[in-house]
Amino acid sequence: MAVHVADHPLIKHKLGLMRQHDISTKDFRDLSSEVARLLTYEATKGMETQTKTIQGWAGPVVVEEIKGKKITIVPILRAGLGMMNGVIDMIPSAKVSVVGYYRNEETLMPVEYYVKTALNIEERTALILDPMLATGGTLMATIETLKKAGCKTIKGLFLVAAPEGIAKITAAHPDVDIYVASIDEKLNEVGYILPGLGDAGDKIFGTK
Ligand code: URA
Repeated sequence: MAVHVADHPLIKHKLGLMRQHDISTKDFRDLSSEVARLLTYEATKGMETQTKTIQGWAGPVVVEEIKGKKITIVPILRAGLGMMNGVIDMIPSAKVSVVGYYRNEETLMPVEYYVKTALNIEERTALILDPMLATGGTLMATIETLKKAGCKTIKGLFLVAAPEGIAKITAAHPDVDIYVASIDEKLNEVGYILPGLGDAGDKIFGTK
């Protein structure tokens, strides 16, 4: 697995704005989309292109287009929805597969309650979206669901990750690439990332 930490001034600046304790819902939402857009740019750098000839203003011209174009984005409910529009801005033809999990309070394991995957998912590159990669439990379950559905190329886009979550995914799924705006210090005792962003879902949906 390759972990790519986006080393770009715009991403650093926008993430810094998101860490402000009293940021408004609108600003947090807008910035989530903007950083998702920039992470998409990073995560799609290796996509192959092919040439074709079109009629330009001065006659035939050879242009490049993305080969295949089979992508599905996979927002993890609910916070992942906050990154969805940013990615769709960059890849308008992407199909959307949605997954949702709740936590079993006894085992603390994620339990799937919703999965709706795009048609022909086995032919698509999946871009998983979640603002926070914390313990890695939900991401692990999502990757397993996608692999069971036949998905061969899987990448994950996150705003902030904890080293603990990255270590868990690296060990279990070395073939999955991770793109993240920042790797923060650690998890606290209830699984929140420090310094982190707080509860990203609440901030995106304005529920706290
Ligand atoms: N989910 C969040 O929203 N924030 C964290 O810090 C960890 C998980």
